[in-house]
Amino acid sequence: MSRKWSPQQLVDAELGTVSREVYVNQDIFQEELEQIFSRAWLFVGHESMVPNPDDYFVSRMGNDSVILTRDRQGQLQVLLNSCLHRGMRLCRYDQGNNRTFTCPYHGWSYSTDGKLVERAGELVGVPGFKTHYYGELDKKNWGLKSVAKLVNYKGTIWATWDENAPSFEAYLGDMKLYLDFALDHRDGSPGGSEMIGGVQKWRIPCNWKTAAENFNADLYHDISHRSVDVVGIGPGGKGRRDPTPNRVSISFKDLGHGLVGRAPYYEENPYTPIFANYPEVEQYYRKVYEEREKNLAGTMRVLHSVGTVFPNMAVHGRQPRTIAVFHPVSATETEMWRIYLVDKDAPQEVKDAARAYYLRYSGPGGMTESDDMENWCYATESSTGTIARTLHYNYQMGIGHAKPVPGLRGAVTTGEFTEENNRNYYARWAQFMEGRSWDDLMPTYDE
Ligand code: FES
Ligand code: FE
Repeated sequence: MSRKWSPQQLVDAELGTVSREVYVNQDIFQEELEQIFSRAWLFVGHESMVPNPDDYFVSRMGNDSVILTRDRQGQLQVLLNSCLHRGMRLCRYDQGNNRTFTCPYHGWSYSTDGKLVERAGELVGVPGFKTHYYGELDKKNWGLKSVAKLVNYKGTIWATWDENAPSFEAYLGDMKLYLDFALDHRDGSPGGSEMIGGVQKWRIPCNWKTAAENFNADLYHDISHRSVDVVGIGPGGKGRRDPTPNRVSISFKDLGHGLVGRAPYYEENPYTPIFANYPEVEQYYRKVYEEREKNLAGTMRVLHSVGTVFPNMAVHGRQPRTIAVFHPVSATETEMWRIYLVDKDAPQEVKDAARAYYLRYSGPGGMTESDDMENWCYATESSTGTIARTLHYNYQMGIGHAKPVPGLRGAVTTGEFTEENNRNYYARWAQFMEGRSWDDLMPTYDE
């Protein structure tokens, strides 16, 4: 591809500007798929989507459809959802249970039984193998493409196509603290998390980064949610959520991850009620909080946070406790996913209250998410104009005011309002888009 642009021209992290082409140009979008989505660790799903052998769930990695499945031996697998014969989509339903994946076009079938085959996704059935192919087709070479690496991290499944990618934990760095809080609300208690219902999926006409950066950084957009705050949809009845004092922005500048919220905290007894209008539910969360305090005595803790794991997965760390994924469809279209989490062993009334609150907050019908989507979609649309796309977005807030966060490697903070997180996110984006090697991409930390 002949490039009319270079990552350095598009992103000036020191000046705090990003070209609008980054959000609307289809050539740049294609390059993102190759340089970022073919290499980075990506969120694929949750283990509870495939609890039994032969269960499958169709997910996405970049613009590729993939099958998350649990093989007959109970191991999780992530396979490209495309038949090796002529490319037919193997799984056309969102989820189900299949003993083999049989292609509807000519009938090739692929097994995930590790007892029969050497690796999951191996080609085992070919109609006319003896008669039409004279027994000469080398089936071992025509199995489904599998991801290079896969991890189950506290119930969430992550994968990368790049066999040279670092371990998931190295990729995450100290952002782990915040991901852990969202995934494992009780920090090591045996309960773990479960999904409430299925995955909400919907498409909107905006660039995927516009959504991702909002979760990475944007405490500044409160004015957007003014109407929701006035209505009082929070479980305390006060706003869209109950107020969180002492907020900060934290960015893992070498890795591109970032978060906003009340985190980390060192104050004595910083607990604020969440579900003030639901006394039994509030009692549960107070108990959980006290347990955590006992478990985590003397360590750095987190309370409320919203953050993005580079490139396109975000978490809400307290209430609502959710995962959001921004799948790239085109430069100006994103497939949004929302997954809602709750403690597995929580009483039913806690789960019911969480579900009711999450749904009025987030997702395609959520009042808060609706505000955000309106901004993202109009921002994308009004940046596609011939003149508009020659301009740059401004990320200059708080330049020069970042300070290291004690105890968190590579992390900086600037207090409540800053665009430092965005500058670091786009600096990371440019590093990937330059095609840097992993040696170059991964900072060397002292262990
Ligand atoms: Fe799948 Fe032909 S495309 S068997
Ligand atoms: Fe918002």
